[in-house]
Amino acid sequence: MLVSAKEMLQKAKAGHYAVGQFNINNLEWTKAILQTAQELNSPVILGVSEGAGKYMAGYKTVVGMVNGMLEELNITVPVALHLDHGSYEGCMKCIEAGFSSVMFDGSHYPIEENVAKTTELIKITSEKGMSLEAEVGSIGGEEDGVVGKGECADPQECKAIADLGVTMLAAGIGNIHGKYPENWEGLSFETLDAIQQLTGEMPLVLHGGTGIPEDMIKKAISLGVAKINVNTECQLAFADATRKYVEAGKDLEGKGFDPRKLLAPGAEAIKATVKEKMELFGSVGKA
Ligand code: 13P
Repeated sequence: MLVSAKEMLQKAKAGHYAVGQFNINNLEWTKAILQTAQELNSPVILGVSEGAGKYMAGYKTVVGMVNGMLEELNITVPVALHLDHGSYEGCMKCIEAGFSSVMFDGSHYPIEENVAKTTELIKITSEKGMSLEAEVGSIGGEEDGVVGKGECADPQECKAIADLGVTMLAAGIGNIHGKYPENWEGLSFETLDAIQQLTGEMPLVLHGGTGIPEDMIKKAISLGVAKINVNTECQLAFADATRKYVEAGKDLEGKGFDPRKLLAPGAEAIKATVKEKMELFGSVGKA
C-alpha cells in the first residue's frame, strides 16, 4: 500500500539521512526502482512530473501500475507516489487519482499567492492523510520545458511556508535540474543553514540531485536535507546502457530485438544508479 512521505521523512531528518525521490517514466523505471528499494530495505519516493504523468497515459494509469507492482512484486518497504513540481490543478488531479503525496510548486507566484494556494492544499491533503511538499525560491535548469535560474530562497519566506504546516519544504540553494555547468558555484550552505535554523524540524528537500558531488550531498544532509530528488542521472544511465547494447549489435543477435532483452541493460543501469544513491543518502536498511 502506498504511504504518505511524512513518517519516512521525519525519521530521516531525525536520523540524519535522506530518502531518495527517483522520477519514473515507464514500467521498466518503476520496477527497477521498487526492486532496488526492496533489496536494500530502503524507503523510497517515486516522483512523477506532470509531463511524465501525461506520457504514461495519465495519473490513474500510474496509480494502477504502481499499486499493482507493490502487490505483485511483494514490495513491503514504505513507498510514496509523489507528484513532482505540480500546478494547483495537477495536485487536485493526483489527489483524486490516488497518489499518496504531492508537490505544489508555487515558487513562481508572489509569496502571498504561494501561501494562499499552499494553505488550501494543506487542508485537502491532510484530510486525506497525504503529504505535501512546497517550494520557495525557484530551482534552476530545465524541467519539462520550464527553465529557472537557480536562485537562493529567502529564509524568512521559507519559514512562512513551513509554518503553514507543509510536510516537507524544497528551497532553492543554488541547485539546478539536469547536468551542472562547468562554472557552477556549488550549493549555498549559508542559505541552507539559515533556512534550517528558522524551520527547525521541517524535512528539507534538495532538488537537482544529479551531479552534486558526494561531499556536498553529505553536508546538505547534515544541515537538514531529508529528501533528495534524482531524475536525469537515471535517464543518462539508461540511455548509455541501451546505446552500448545497440552499438554492440546485440539487438541483431538471435531475439535481441525483444523489448524484454533490449531494455534490460537500461533497467539494470537504473538499479545500479538507485543503489549508489541510496547508499550515499544513508537510507539503506531504514525501511
Ligand atoms: P535532476 O534531474 O537534476 O536529478 O533533478 C531531479 C529533480 O529535482 C526532480 O524534481
